[in-house]
Amino acid sequence: MQNANTRHTDFIIMADGEMWFEGILFPNVFKPEILRDIGDNFVVKNDDTIIVTYPKSGTNWLIEIVSLIYSKGDPQQIQTEPAWERSPWIESNIGYEILLNQCGPRNYTTHLPIQLFPKTFFSSKAKVIYLIRNPRDVLVSGYFFFKELSIVKTPDKLQEYFELFLKGSVAYGSWFEHIRGWLSMREKKDFLLLSYEELKENTRSTVEKICEFLEKKLKPEEIDLVLKYSSFKYMKENQLSSNKQMIDHFKNKNLTFTRKGVTGDWKNHFTVAQAEVFDKIYRERMAGYPPKLFPWEDS
Ligand code: A3P
Repeated sequence: MQNANTRHTDFIIMADGEMWFEGILFPNVFKPEILRDIGDNFVVKNDDTIIVTYPKSGTNWLIEIVSLIYSKGDPQQIQTEPAWERSPWIESNIGYEILLNQCGPRNYTTHLPIQLFPKTFFSSKAKVIYLIRNPRDVLVSGYFFFKELSIVKTPDKLQEYFELFLKGSVAYGSWFEHIRGWLSMREKKDFLLLSYEELKENTRSTVEKICEFLEKKLKPEEIDLVLKYSSFKYMKENQLSSNKQMIDHFKNKNLTFTRKGVTGDWKNHFTVAQAEVFDKIYRERMAGYPPKLFPWEDS
């Protein structure tokens, strides 16, 4: 029958093309069979390094930093290889293919909520860097980004996106659930929790923290280069790091991974009423966490 939803045990393709897997909304080009295979069969190795974020938390910035740490500040690789090849997204069709065929230590990225991540991860010693960001800024950043991306249906009005975000009916599901899931790993030795806010505020010392976690010793002048080539200005100009291929693919020059690059932009977009609604839900959903975990709570 035309225009009907196609329902399977673990996924639904809606009549309008939206794809929901295990109750989570995904870009409609993602394949349920790959998502299933990742969870059940992908083998996470002890020497893997994995960048985990909820979308719009500064993923591409962290990828750039990690690439530059591995190259000791040499920008050659970031200038010639797009981020999605240097640190493939495991859940994307192309990223999964790359990773299945890659030998040696791997560096990859994911936005997957923890319950969809490979089961083999939990018995591995793989290193995870989990980068979090003020969800209000994540919301605003996601609104401007997904509006331009045809593979995720996004309302034109911020108010409508705001409501979907709070319900978790946006790409990759609920921010609150993502955080709750991944933060359950935070006491593990191989887990580094970082925030966009500390990366902005104390970039150098946060980069040093990442070096230590990755057991990479860099000289101060090499750190200088990491900072230079991962700066917002440089990334905006380096079209490869901003995923030029993706922009070309979607034929949309408004699609950018380097929009403003600041903290607190939500204050320019939320109404007073939205800020209050958000605060109330945030307090309810985040009850029980020590506030010092979340630097945005100070501002
Ligand atoms: P804004 O839309 O608020 O500007 P992701 O890579 O997860 O999609 O996150 C994108 C966000 O990270 C965007 O936020 C983008 O501007 C910001 N960003 C990217 N590179 C950055 C950098 N070098 N410094 C600071 N912010 C950066």
